[in-house]
Amino acid sequence: MTWTTRRAVLGSALALAACGKQANSQPIPGPVPPLKSLAPFPMGTCLQARFLDDPTWTTLAADHFSQLTAEWEMKMEYIAKPDGGFQFDRADRIADFAGRNGMRLFGHALVWYANEPDAFKNLDETRQAFGRAYDNYITAVVGRYRGRASGWDVVNEPILDDGSGLRQSLWSRRLGEIDHIRRALDTARAADPDAVLFINDYNLESRPAKLAAYQRLIEKLLAAGAPLGGIGCQTHTESELPPGSIARTLTDLARFGLPLHVSEMDVSLVQGGPFANKDLARQRQGELYAEAAAAFAALPAAQQFAFTVWGVRDGDSWLARENRADAPLLFDDAGRAKASFSALAAALRR
Ligand code: XIL
Repeated sequence: MTWTTRRAVLGSALALAACGKQANSQPIPGPVPPLKSLAPFPMGTCLQARFLDDPTWTTLAADHFSQLTAEWEMKMEYIAKPDGGFQFDRADRIADFAGRNGMRLFGHALVWYANEPDAFKNLDETRQAFGRAYDNYITAVVGRYRGRASGWDVVNEPILDDGSGLRQSLWSRRLGEIDHIRRALDTARAADPDAVLFINDYNLESRPAKLAAYQRLIEKLLAAGAPLGGIGCQTHTESELPPGSIARTLTDLARFGLPLHVSEMDVSLVQGGPFANKDLARQRQGELYAEAAAAFAALPAAQQFAFTVWGVRDGDSWLARENRADAPLLFDDAGRAKASFSALAAALRR
């Protein structure tokens, strides 16, 4: 996904008119096995609290997945109110649903360049006051879900897309490029000694310079003794991605010996430009899910934190909110398993 496209997807809640949608989904007939029964590691998905009012969603999610990530309601964009207060109602609903259904909760995301709440921007320039507010936020959020969240994306998307270094943000400008990452990890560690603490990034499979810069950051943090406990690889991909790049990326990232999280996988059918051959694009979509699952399954068990798909049904996906013709997930709008599901399931069985 290009940077421009990505910004548009991040920023836009507008759904474009449905076009060619039917042709992009491809339900498979008959009953399908629960994904979570096929995988020896947690299978995750993401949700918004409002999905909990939709029985089709809750049934599918509970049948197939064993871990939940909040799509945005555990980020500052929801929790941090303009007056400096915090709201946890939606995150609590998600955490309660996970708990009631025996699913693991994954915390996402504490510090992200794309969330710069007014309450923080309006703080005066003194590093001390800003740092105290930063620590206070992390402590409050991590502390609230202590014992319930198995892990946290502590800093999300720290690397510039061209791989030239660390991304600038409100957080890095006020607290320092590497210091704000180290500080967030230390503060999260103090708030929950048992949660596995991650950094998380995207385009690692498509941009070698970015993957290299990500690994340099991991090396630096580990050398400095930071409590980094896991590595997130978002795996937002598109059907044109060359074969082998996801597997290579996971193998590269595994060299640190830390648990890996395929944290937000989807395979867009339209982000790489309108595909010439829809059947081929759908086939590649299945092959990419299968490649990722096989590479993940080949890791040592201790490094298999979870394999998360960024949504259940195509219509729930952030990419479908941008372009209704996209169908990046494992289930169609009606909740029927697609060919991508079968491909992933077959890879897990092997
Ligand atoms: C996206 C969500 O899907 C949207 O609903 C939200 O508006 C913006 O963020 N990388 C991430 C996720 O780490 O948090 C993003 O999720 C997708 C890209």
